[in-house]
Amino acid sequence: MTDLEPDAPLSASGVDVQHPYRAANGPKRVRTRHFQGAKAQGIPITGLTSYDMLTAQIFDAAGIDFLLVGDSAGNNVFGYDTTLPVTVDELIPLTRAVARAVTRALVVADMPFGSYESGAEQALATAVRFMKEAQAHAVKLEGGKRSQEQIQRIVAAGIPVMAHIGFTPQSEHGLGGHIIQGRGDAADELIEDALAVQDAGAFAVVLEMVPSSVAARVTARLAIPTIGVGAGPSVDGQLLVWTDFAGMTQGRVPKFVKQYADVRSILTDAVQRFTADVASGAYPAPEHSYE
Ligand code: KIV
Repeated sequence: MTDLEPDAPLSASGVDVQHPYRAANGPKRVRTRHFQGAKAQGIPITGLTSYDMLTAQIFDAAGIDFLLVGDSAGNNVFGYDTTLPVTVDELIPLTRAVARAVTRALVVADMPFGSYESGAEQALATAVRFMKEAQAHAVKLEGGKRSQEQIQRIVAAGIPVMAHIGFTPQSEHGLGGHIIQGRGDAADELIEDALAVQDAGAFAVVLEMVPSSVAARVTARLAIPTIGVGAGPSVDGQLLVWTDFAGMTQGRVPKFVKQYADVRSILTDAVQRFTADVASGAYPAPEHSYE
């Protein structure tokens, strides 16, 4: 089966040797239309952030459906306190590395704060940079109704857009901190935002830190898939920040994160054994040395 066949499932029965958790007859390359097919067939979509070639290769080979080169690179690569300072120029080389590393996953480039808010033309110019200079397959931007024109303009130019509503980290100061969105009366507003990005042509929408019941309502109302980040189980896909999911992050991680590995401890232990071996002379041994 080629990736041109519209109904290739993202995953189902059958085992692909290279991608054990993916369907043997699934798409060779995940396209935005496969997101649509996955929602129609009730097959959950999976995504992780990635900011470099090595993690992108590992996640892609393990069968992840999409990789987001998130503006969370601001925190996780560049060491800023928030995502606000990270720039397009900083994200483009990371996106290029991820796009070059994958063979199957869809690569989504996150448009950072300040790169699309001025209007549709600014948004298109930024999206074009990510597609042309970094070979992204799609872009993501934050905002519902307020970003509708930007999404329309980018989509009209043939660039797929993943929208992002609920808690939008670029607005953390405006929102008053890391606060769950869509509770109580705000649920209707969230649904309006979701419909607005769908009408504007987004192929999927990220719901971040939204009550499960509200995410379920949004998912039922939309034809496009919802991708949850702290939005409970009743969405069409799940996305996690890889440094949280792999136990790389120091300190508290959000309640919605499930830690699938403890890479920080593994690396700490490796470094401690290396420094001890060098101190004791156990490394390098003869087998690590040239005659
Ligand atoms: O940049 C990022 O990692 C994100 C996800 C949290 C949705 O935008």
